[in-house]
Amino acid sequence: MKILVTGGAGFIGVNFVYYMLEKYADYDIVCLDALTYAGNLKSLDKAMENPRFTFVRGSIADKDCVDKLFEKEKFDVVINFAAESHVDRSIRNPEVFVQTNVLGTAVMLNCAKAAWELPDGTFKEGKKFLHVSTDEVFGALDFDSPLFTEETKYDPHSPYSASKASTMMSFIFILSGIMLFIKTVMYCPTLASRSSLSLSLISLRFILPLKVFGSSLTYSIILGYL
Ligand SMILES: NC(=O)c1ccc[n+]([C@@H]2O[C@H](COP(=O)([O-])OP(=O)(O)OC[C@H]3O[C@@H](n4cnc5c(N)ncnc54)[C@H](O)[C@@H]3O)[C@@H](O)[C@H]2O)c1
Repeated sequence: MKILVTGGAGFIGVNFVYYMLEKYADYDIVCLDALTYAGNLKSLDKAMENPRFTFVRGSIADKDCVDKLFEKEKFDVVINFAAESHVDRSIRNPEVFVQTNVLGTAVMLNCAKAAWELPDGTFKEGKKFLHVSTDEVFGALDFDSPLFTEETKYDPHSPYSASKASTMMSFIFILSGIMLFIKTVMYCPTLASRSSLSLSLISLRFILPLKVFGSSLTYSIILGYL
């Protein structure tokens, strides 16, 4: 199994990379990361020693780079963590959020589609694309409001959450059949610097029945699909 992890030098991605390398001895991981201010290559030092791990510096919005990577590596699964992810920065500089979160995701989806689609419009067996979004697409929750559910209408309150909502609403059909959509809010104790973690994994029409493993950890949910 060969997995492309984008944004693997970031806060969540790096933990995911180590988890996967340790847990699955037969998985190869390629990490594509632009190393923005949020990426820390040093945190992948130990992974670099593993022959099953490859790091590529590049942007998910660079079609040429992503196409070549798909062509070379023949990925089975893509997990798209790469994003501009900080709300305050999105208010000061929304353009880069559109560039990475919207256009970058479109590039990723189109490259996956080009690599995995068969002449009859179906997709090669076993291919999966997991896109990571955020519960912030639903807006803010008052103390006495009912909880968000899958049916809650999107109501983003920042350029960041608007860029994530846009991705989820715009690109539903590109990979119809092999994308996964999970929305959940969870606590992730392995990630010390942000105790409350909410995460949405998008996919849209389709696939496998949702299984949530263990105690709602991000990774256990993601891994349920691998
Ligand atoms: N951390 C949270 O609490 C939280 C909550 C909800 C959703 N999310 C989502 O989870 C994902 C990961 O979050 P995080 O906290 O690890 O983010 P982060 O900001 O810590 O890391 C993002 C990573 O993406 C890389 N990156 C940025 N632009 C890129 C581009 N154009 N091409 C390739 N790589 C690029 C950065 O270098 C960095 O390594 C994001 O999609 C985020 O929106 C995070």
